[in-house]
Amino acid sequence: MSNVVSIKYSKPDNLHIKCTVNGEEMQASVAPYKTLLEMLREDLQLTGTKHGCELGECGTCSVMLDGTLVLSCLTLAIEVEGRHIETVEGIANGANLHPLQSAFADLGGSQCGYCTPGFLTTAKALIESNPIQRGKRLKKLFPETSAAVPAINRFSTQSKKRYAVYRERKQQMRRQDNEQSRKI
Ligand code: FES
Repeated sequence: MSNVVSIKYSKPDNLHIKCTVNGEEMQASVAPYKTLLEMLREDLQLTGTKHGCELGECGTCSVMLDGTLVLSCLTLAIEVEGRHIETVEGIANGANLHPLQSAFADLGGSQCGYCTPGFLTTAKALIESNPIQRGKRLKKLFPETSAAVPAINRFSTQSKKRYAVYRERKQQMRRQDNEQSRKI
């Protein structure tokens, strides 16, 4: 008598998911075991959200789900049926960068860039959260050595008006530098 047991595996049927991503209604047909991260990247071609540890530890896959920050690697695609998602692609207003993106670019907060979408999404959620909690959470979420911290601080501790003045001053200084180097 043979000891070989044959197990038949039948592929589970795909699920049809409808949701709103960055203000746009989207649909995808996904396997029931797929995560939100996989659906965004593989089915909706929104590759701004990055794969990192896929264990819920690094945060590079962070997105907003109905206004709450979630790890898309630990969220099943089926959970987002009918819900609203904001990814890093939705942070900018068309061609205009979100002030936080500009601050990251100006102050070198991007580092190598791979995890920047996760930093931006998390930082935006943090800035929009209760200001009393912000300071404590900032320390907890980002290591002191992270180049993202000054960029987040810069944006979160100044009003947009003051930030605009800061940017204008910086641009003026750049212009003066350029003029001086032309004279030399
Ligand atoms: S990929 Fe690391 S927490 Fe999701």
